[in-house]
Amino acid sequence: MKVSKLLVALFAGALSLAAYAQQPIVIKFSHVVAADTPKGKAAEMFAKKAGELTKGKVKVEVYANSTLYKDKEEMEALQLGAVQMLAPSLAKFGPLGVKEFEVFDLPFIFSDYDALRKVTNGPVGKQLLAKLEPKGIRGLAYWDNGFKSFSANSPIRTPADLKGKKMRIQSSKVLEEQMRSVGSIPQVMAFSEVYQALQTGVVDGTENPISNLYTQKMHEVQKHLTLTDHGYLGYAVIVNKKFWDGLPADVRGQLDEAMVQATRYANQIAKVENDNSLEAVKKSGKTTVYAPTKEERLAFKKAMLPVHQKMEGRVGKEVIQAVYKDTGFKPDSL
Ligand code: LMR
Repeated sequence: MKVSKLLVALFAGALSLAAYAQQPIVIKFSHVVAADTPKGKAAEMFAKKAGELTKGKVKVEVYANSTLYKDKEEMEALQLGAVQMLAPSLAKFGPLGVKEFEVFDLPFIFSDYDALRKVTNGPVGKQLLAKLEPKGIRGLAYWDNGFKSFSANSPIRTPADLKGKKMRIQSSKVLEEQMRSVGSIPQVMAFSEVYQALQTGVVDGTENPISNLYTQKMHEVQKHLTLTDHGYLGYAVIVNKKFWDGLPADVRGQLDEAMVQATRYANQIAKVENDNSLEAVKKSGKTTVYAPTKEERLAFKKAMLPVHQKMEGRVGKEVIQAVYKDTGFKPDSL
């Protein structure tokens, strides 16, 4: 080879190496809900902030609506490093073996967002995230969705109205027990399959915050929605630990800051998003929305409360008591 040719080849090689060195670090962020939900919007906000704060060194690709993975698969994908970031609902950590997380699924354990925040922002929240480390997972933040309501094709006014109904739940032993406590039949199913299951009658009803119900169009196939607010559904934002620890320290610091900002945003918009979805459901005229009286909600609480004690052996008495203490939990009132 002539010297000039060799020089050209060397120069081209150096150029492509330089281009390679400038390739952004890609973070795949997979989730199962629609883009216009509290989680979907917060994920986009994180992507934006991450790009800005790292000056383009990191590119976060958000995959909404189970486009990459369904519920169960996404956790495996994270552990294998096929995706780097997720925000699974807190119910998803029980099946992973970190059963203490199921404390969040206990019916009526949080009276409102403030009570919840005392746990997620306090030592209990921190200790729970630390339990993910041996699974190769680092927990970065808690993001809110909101409080769940029951829907079905017949009115739900009393716990007895749920009797015998096949109710879709996430894979959670606590949620199974919650449904059994009112005589319904729990059906574990991936989120992406719920709409069709409701439409075809494979299940009779479900529970979710209104933002999830509305953005999946479940209200189009559910005639009745009762605002029971009987349980909380929120998320932990998690990353593959090996990937995260392997990032350059300055980049990781910038991403931590992006996460702080996205978390603030997530927890600001969650209630508003759910309120807006409720208005949209009402406006659609497809579902009759019922707001139970205080007495009616108390009846649900009374029926479901034995679940706390029943699940003590699985979830852990200590963590339940710690949550009671943080929130000032009252068994007899709302
Ligand atoms: C569900 O499966 O109902 C939820 O976990 C979906 C979600 O991520 O909000």
